[in-house]
Amino acid sequence: MKAIRLEAPRTFRSIDVPEPSAPEEGEALVRIHRVGICGTDISGYLGKMPFFSYPRIPGHELGVEVLSVGQGVANVKPGDFCSVEPYLNCGQCYACLRGSSNCCENLKVLGVMIDGGLTERLVLPARKLHSTNKLRLDQCALVETLAIGCHAVDRGQPTAGQPVLIIGAGPIGLSVSQFTRLAGARTILMDLSRKRLDFVRQKMGIPDTILSTADATEVEALRQMTGSDLPQVVIDATGSNTSMSNALNYCAFTGRLVFVGITAAEVTFKHAPIMHRREITILASRNALPGDFTRIIKLIEDGKIDTRPWITHQANFDEMIAAFPNWINPENGVIKAMVSVN
Ligand SMILES: NC(=O)c1ccc[n+]([C@@H]2O[C@H](COP(=O)([O-])OP(=O)(O)OC[C@H]3O[C@@H](n4cnc5c(N)ncnc54)[C@H](O)[C@@H]3O)[C@@H](O)[C@H]2O)c1
Ligand SMILES: [Zn+2]
Ligand SMILES: [Zn+2]
Repeated sequence: MKAIRLEAPRTFRSIDVPEPSAPEEGEALVRIHRVGICGTDISGYLGKMPFFSYPRIPGHELGVEVLSVGQGVANVKPGDFCSVEPYLNCGQCYACLRGSSNCCENLKVLGVMIDGGLTERLVLPARKLHSTNKLRLDQCALVETLAIGCHAVDRGQPTAGQPVLIIGAGPIGLSVSQFTRLAGARTILMDLSRKRLDFVRQKMGIPDTILSTADATEVEALRQMTGSDLPQVVIDATGSNTSMSNALNYCAFTGRLVFVGITAAEVTFKHAPIMHRREITILASRNALPGDFTRIIKLIEDGKIDTRPWITHQANFDEMIAAFPNWINPENGVIKAMVSVN
């Protein structure tokens, strides 16, 4: 069967791979229909992803159909459409034993540390499949991106009616915004890119945006929007250490700052006065929990999350390698590119 593999940075190749063997106990054989492309795949392509090793078949945002199941599988059956939770955790470590499978110490993310979904069929642990009888397959593939935002908002715990600032209006920031709005928080998006803020206002229906100009006028703009108190929760989804080092300044007294964007560079700030005086809490946010997948599927099924603005670009399997370089060019306004495998 066919697959697309990253042989090395910037080098995709169409290859033939063996069919997976029949599913064993607790496993399911699935047909991959849709694969969403995200920043992780782009970083892998550009050779900028520290956890990514080559050669690797990418693909972790998957919309799949169950073909057959092994012994003892009760949560899915052949014919089910599913979203895949791509975080393959060990079940034995400190984090897993405490229910934090999202940050398992031995975590293997499908398509990053092990081969993923840019292929026709895969055998997966059935417990990582979340089925739906209403979602389309492209919506199933979108659930993982949404789960990242869902978990980040759970970390920040915004209160209804309180202002929340999201820095970075890329797919992850937008995903965060879905859940701050569902929490009833007043959502404000900040970005350096006018184009991305236009998308936020026009396509996501969020009126409050601030263009970041790095001249300290942002705090004033925020104070005006929030009636001087500043946001209770700030969620940084930029992946920029400059932004992350500065983000404390936007937090209200007793506020919480969540880092959902990732950087391997140093994040630095003075402890006093801002963090100390305002008694700010800083939180990390990694991946998402199984319950987030179930919750998001239900929210889409119930029409509480509108997936229509999300998928901006599409390609068939055979067109993907040629289309990929266009998807990483910011000029093309890609939010989510979706590959149809079957
Ligand atoms: N926590 C997790 O588990 C998890 C999962 C997936 C992705 N991520 C991370 O989330 C981050 C965002 O991903 P994405 O796909 O949305 O990326 P992206 O690059 O598409 O979006 C980032 C946005 O931040 C903006 N930005 C950059 N620097 C800024 C600054 N100084 N001030 C204001 N805005 C600034 C950019 O203009 C861009 O619109 C990345 O670091 C990614 O690795 C985290
Ligand atoms: Zn992703
Ligand atoms: Zn573990």
